[in-house]
Amino acid sequence: MSAPTMNTAGQTLLEVDSLTMRFGGLTAINNLSLNVPGGKITSIIGPNGAGKTTFFNCLTGFYKPTTGSVRMHHPEHGPLALEQMPSYHVARKAGVVRTFQNIRLFPNMTVLENLIVAQHNALQHASRFSLAGLFGRAGYKQAREAALTKAEMWLTRLKLLDIADLAAGNLSYGTQRRIEIARALCVDPLLLCLDEPAAGLNPRESAELNELLLYLSREHHKGILLIEHDMNVVMRVSDHICVLNFGNKIAEGTPEQIQNDPNVIKAYLGEDEADEKEAA
Ligand SMILES: Nc1ncnc2c1ncn2[C@@H]1O[C@H](COP(=O)(O)OP(=O)(O)OP(=O)(O)O)[C@@H](O)[C@H]1O
Ligand SMILES: [Mg+2]
Repeated sequence: MSAPTMNTAGQTLLEVDSLTMRFGGLTAINNLSLNVPGGKITSIIGPNGAGKTTFFNCLTGFYKPTTGSVRMHHPEHGPLALEQMPSYHVARKAGVVRTFQNIRLFPNMTVLENLIVAQHNALQHASRFSLAGLFGRAGYKQAREAALTKAEMWLTRLKLLDIADLAAGNLSYGTQRRIEIARALCVDPLLLCLDEPAAGLNPRESAELNELLLYLSREHHKGILLIEHDMNVVMRVSDHICVLNFGNKIAEGTPEQIQNDPNVIKAYLGEDEADEKEAA
């Protein structure tokens, strides 16, 4: 069974305070502060190399930030310092689960198997990490059934049940992106971090992604942090947008505010073109 959805809508879930990440002489993120609420869609946008993926890597334990802190205000486990946690704790304990910019499914496994593997932690615990546990324990059998039930539930909700037994690697790019989201949902995230989920999608798939993101935030109260270049997605679904450029936050606000922000227009178009646009 799925863990009951905790409704944290509107409360600050993630509190990023003065986060800086340097690689040698390069500052990929510079003194970033940001609050991310539960149950809402917060987008991180910015030109290539702005520091967006690095931000996710700092949240999810892949990189240790040079300075600053990232607190997850978990309703059950209290404030958790993500920058000090290993990545498996970030996902399982803090409820911060991500997808990657490049698809990372197991291509030779079926769609269903990919979703079961995502729950290996619960299964391992139920087996008590022993072969005897795998074969003998009622607890393991129950955990396996619960993993199957949860996988089936998300496959149904994300309209993937018909292809559950097909090898993931043979499916279209758009479908694989959807499977990645289903797999992340099997870990019961409070905050779902998606790195360019619309990359490579056709217009129909991108419209379906919009629907899916709104459904997850509105019906399932998932907080969503979305890195995305596709403005048809960002402007239609975001409650709040944060714009990065060369590691600096240059703007923050509603889609309407961001679309009209001169600093954002300059970052995307370059100074000269932005001036021409203004003069026209
Ligand atoms: N492990 C690393 N070592 C050195 N430099 C890195 C590392 N990871 C990222 N960078 C650099 O940090 C900067 C930000 O990269 P990042 O991948 O976060 O950008 P991004 O905003 O996600 O870009 P894109 O839209 O192209 O995905 C880039 O200049 C990149 O080369
Ligand atoms: Mg990136």
